[in-house]
Amino acid sequence: MKYDMIEVTRNGAVATIQFDRPKALNALCTEMMVEVADALAKLEADNVIGCVILTGSDKAFAAGADIKEMQNNSYMDIYKSDVFEKHHEAVARFRKPIIAAVSGYCLGGGCEVAMMCDFIIASDTAKFGQPEINLGVMPGMGGTQRLTLAIGKSKAMDMCLTGRMMDAEEAERAGLVSRVVPLDDLLTVAGEAAAKIAGQSHPIAMMTKETINASFEMSLTQGLRYERRLFQSMFTTDDQKEGMTAFVEKRKPHFKHK
Ligand code: CAA
Repeated sequence: MKYDMIEVTRNGAVATIQFDRPKALNALCTEMMVEVADALAKLEADNVIGCVILTGSDKAFAAGADIKEMQNNSYMDIYKSDVFEKHHEAVARFRKPIIAAVSGYCLGGGCEVAMMCDFIIASDTAKFGQPEINLGVMPGMGGTQRLTLAIGKSKAMDMCLTGRMMDAEEAERAGLVSRVVPLDDLLTVAGEAAAKIAGQSHPIAMMTKETINASFEMSLTQGLRYERRLFQSMFTTDDQKEGMTAFVEKRKPHFKHK
């Protein structure tokens, strides 16, 4: 896959999408996110791929939506094009597991796209923030909602109203990121996590992701019923038989659906 603003690489069942717009600190212009959406569509259709890593550079995961691109937009421009929903949300709509590997600036739309991923592994140099208030706007790609769900009202208010940045340690304490690792280890650790996920049954991993995400949309009773039904349905799969048989036979499972 050849693109101008992203690099897509593959290692077995793991694909990595890297933002590659260093001069603008990977600001998420429309062209870049169209490319990301296109790459994700292809990776979703690719039966070999079981997990994707989304990453940036050491200096910036992404410093936000492209301010220069938006600066002179009218309400009608931004309403009619609705680029955030059309392209950027492709990350949230992706059905296979996707990990954000974040170092450096992860701000505004960058933080919002990282939060669309299933979990975030951060380097110790990562800095998170929703600084849109400094630009006379607020987060517009899900930050007011996903950040609040991730870290709670008080911290989300603090981040969005002051526009301050949070370092990796605070982000881990707040539950925004799942692990913090030294910068040099970031892609190795993310790659190992992704390979572990991609080594499982792909449809079972996808259903697990779908069920956890359903918890944000449903009451506890509905969510528990949803989980139970999907859990029960897994007993129709070869991979459930293989996984449990392998355990009993004290060997590694060889899942069919990979
Ligand atoms: N959009 C467009 N260009 C950006 C950008 C952005 N979000 N962030 C950085 N850049 C560009 C700068 O304009 C600069 O370009 P030039 O060399 O052509 O001037 C280049 O990237 C390097 O940036 P700086 O010189 O500013 O680098 P720095 O190291 O001094 O500062 C920074 C780094 C603190 C991240 C600073 O660049 C910054 O504050 N960026 C903006 C962060 C921001 O406000 N993000 C929110 C965007 S709005 C949004 O995302 C809305 C939404 O919710 C959807």
